Amino acid sequence: MILLDGKKTSKDIKEEIAIEVAKMKANGKKAPHLAAILVGTDGASMTYVSAKVKACEQIGFVSTLIDLPVETTEEKLLQEIEKLNKSTEVDGFIVQLPLPKHIDEQKVLEAVDVDKDVDGFHPTNVGRMALDLPCFLPATPYGILELLERYNIETSGKNVVVMGRSHIVGRPMSILMSQKRKAGDATVTLVHSRTKDLKSITQQADIIIVAIGISEFLKGDMVKEGVVIIDVGITRLPDATKKSGFRLAGDVDFKSVSKKASHITPVPGGVGPMTIAMLLKNTLLARERHSVNS
Ligand code: GUN
Repeated sequence: MILLDGKKTSKDIKEEIAIEVAKMKANGKKAPHLAAILVGTDGASMTYVSAKVKACEQIGFVSTLIDLPVETTEEKLLQEIEKLNKSTEVDGFIVQLPLPKHIDEQKVLEAVDVDKDVDGFHPTNVGRMALDLPCFLPATPYGILELLERYNIETSGKNVVVMGRSHIVGRPMSILMSQKRKAGDATVTLVHSRTKDLKSITQQADIIIVAIGISEFLKGDMVKEGVVIIDVGITRLPDATKKSGFRLAGDVDFKSVSKKASHITPVPGGVGPMTIAMLLKNTLLARERHSVNS
């Protein structure tokens, strides 16, 4: 069994980006600038956003964190987005999800300038992604493609089962893997909470990408020998034996599934760090595109 080491792979990618940034700076060009808007104090969101900002510092990007209180109105958030859209300093930005309930998430995502939408969540970027046109790919699916490519995992003609139909992971993943591309050309089945006889489908899979948000859902008896497993889930489970009082678990029951898998991502250290690396890659791309125009 081979561990698909997202921590190591993301480090490689960050080093590659850092070299590009150093070259930009040596040529008198501006470093890429990523901004992130965080509304509220959700623990997981705060952790993710600070990891993104820290990663910017590591590779020589400029970063800005816009930290707004939970009671921020939709109007105020839209104003902040407009400022970033207009800024000549910021190349790309994200609005960390989920947003507080009183804010219309779709309205917010549609307010982001398509050319600065480094999360790839704007409907124009989603449409361009589905049509295989140049766009910002959403960071988690992009990270999974990159991991499959860098570990030379054959996907052409393989049975890929994507578990979960979220707009951020499952849906785009199923589209991307069916496309004619490296880490694509697969026969894709997307399963979800209404799928009947799930086990008979997962047992046929050569590659399973699990993004359902239910800890340790996929068990060893649901997969075949030699399967490749990509685990997108990350949940805190109470664990009295840990100093922190919890342990991190994925959507895959690592213990039973890893016995049968040829390749598997660990949690943590699998998909998570890849998401951050690809966000940085998108920001570099945004900077390169902007420097053509300015
Ligand atoms: N919340 C969970 N994943 C993501 C992500 O990739 N981007 C943003 N903006 N919010 C998220």
